[in-house]
Amino acid sequence: MKKTQQYISENKQRYLDELFDLLRIPSISADSDYNAHTAKTADFVAESLRKAGADKVKINPTKGHPIVTAEKIIDPELPTVLVYGHYDVQPPDPLDLWDSPAFEPVIKKTDIHPEGAIFARGSCDDKGQMYMHVKAFEAMMTAGELPCNVKFMIEGEEEVGSVNLGDFIRAHTEMLTCDVILISDTGIIDNETPSITTGLRGMSYVEVEVTGPNRDLHSGIYGGAVGNPINVLCEMIASLKDENKHITVEGFYDNVQEVSAAERKMMNEAPYDEEKYKAALDIPATEGEQGYTTLERTSIRPTLDVNGIWGGYIGEGAKTVLPSKAYAKISMRLVPNQSSERITQLFQEHFERIAPDSVTVKVTPHHGGEAVVTPTDTPEYKAAAAAMERTFGKQPIPQRGGGSIPIVAMFEEVLGVKTVLMGFGLDSDAIHSPNEHFGLFNFYRGIETIPYFYEEYAKKKGGR
Ligand code: BES
Ligand code: MN
Ligand code: MN
Repeated sequence: MKKTQQYISENKQRYLDELFDLLRIPSISADSDYNAHTAKTADFVAESLRKAGADKVKINPTKGHPIVTAEKIIDPELPTVLVYGHYDVQPPDPLDLWDSPAFEPVIKKTDIHPEGAIFARGSCDDKGQMYMHVKAFEAMMTAGELPCNVKFMIEGEEEVGSVNLGDFIRAHTEMLTCDVILISDTGIIDNETPSITTGLRGMSYVEVEVTGPNRDLHSGIYGGAVGNPINVLCEMIASLKDENKHITVEGFYDNVQEVSAAERKMMNEAPYDEEKYKAALDIPATEGEQGYTTLERTSIRPTLDVNGIWGGYIGEGAKTVLPSKAYAKISMRLVPNQSSERITQLFQEHFERIAPDSVTVKVTPHHGGEAVVTPTDTPEYKAAAAAMERTFGKQPIPQRGGGSIPIVAMFEEVLGVKTVLMGFGLDSDAIHSPNEHFGLFNFYRGIETIPYFYEEYAKKKGGR
């Protein structure tokens, strides 16, 4: 991998310039006004794979945004790595909280990234991390050091629940045949403490609508006698957790996989500083399910959170009105053995049951996905750990993550293939938030580590 690493170090500035071009295209998958940009981003990804030396580069249309696929088969006898990533990004709002425009990437230094970080929507999640793979591949190809076969599948709908990807992989199992899936869409503990994500939470996402009177009312004429849907919604939401922050939806915890005391002890040995955690978020205290630590609350335990709530008058000044309707978007993060479909159903039944007679409620399910835990005693985990050890000089710590990548469970179900989550972001990179950024250190460290993964994996699977 000498020539590969040499090539990487000689092409750092160009790699960055190209990533900037990619980050300038606003591929907001949730907003159809941006469909032309999203399509252009797929073209950009396809072209960069072609230039890097991939064969069979294809932009596969779907009912939603296209999926880019490509491959380089050097020898059918060798193992095949399938790289998955996404080129779509979250909406950048609230725009006024960005210090520089979301789609005009700039390098700025921060306390955590003294060597500079790329500020732009998608810099970390996931354009920057996905592009590390394209550039690592280009380096291995140019150096003539690709140690195994590689396939790429880069989608444009991850941030909206990968709604069309399940059908796509079911329809293309042959094309996607591989030995392992490699994803960089997660993070490490910090730049001195490498880690590999060994779990993702599942997801059940619902929208609720509470309807009171058939029209907005004068809050003096009717107030006090008619159920106010906003007040009612707030009471209902408040009742979804008890005083121990335990979720009250009947049956919610029925299948939750309990983690052994030994495993809990081990996961709590990972570096975590409560004071630093609070200081980084400017919060006076953390809050969560009683009996669990912050590390446990954000990985092995399910959650319920309101993501948005609206209704009534929110314009300037005061308007006296008793609104007809109130709404909220609620997400539940799930852990192994909870079924997303079943949780959605339990939530719906519970929410309808607790509604007072003064209102009617409607629950609309959005996307869902299942949790996964990846084993650490496999060739792919060991290859990732060895690769990281070569670049960081330290063994990575296995750590279950709190986020979700719904397709990972489907990869296992449909293709029967395990995934390695070798990401390089940091929790402080503000993904999905204003001022998202990705450290230059992290971008380059990722590009340098990926070729070693291929080499170690090929070695462990009996390649060259
Ligand atoms: N890359 C994230 C998931 C992630 C981030 C996992 C950090 C672990 C650590 C991904 O793009 C994402 O945001 N997923 C959504 C899934 C949802 C839209 C179904 C999430 O977790 O909210
Ligand atoms: Mn992502
Ligand atoms: Mn995301």
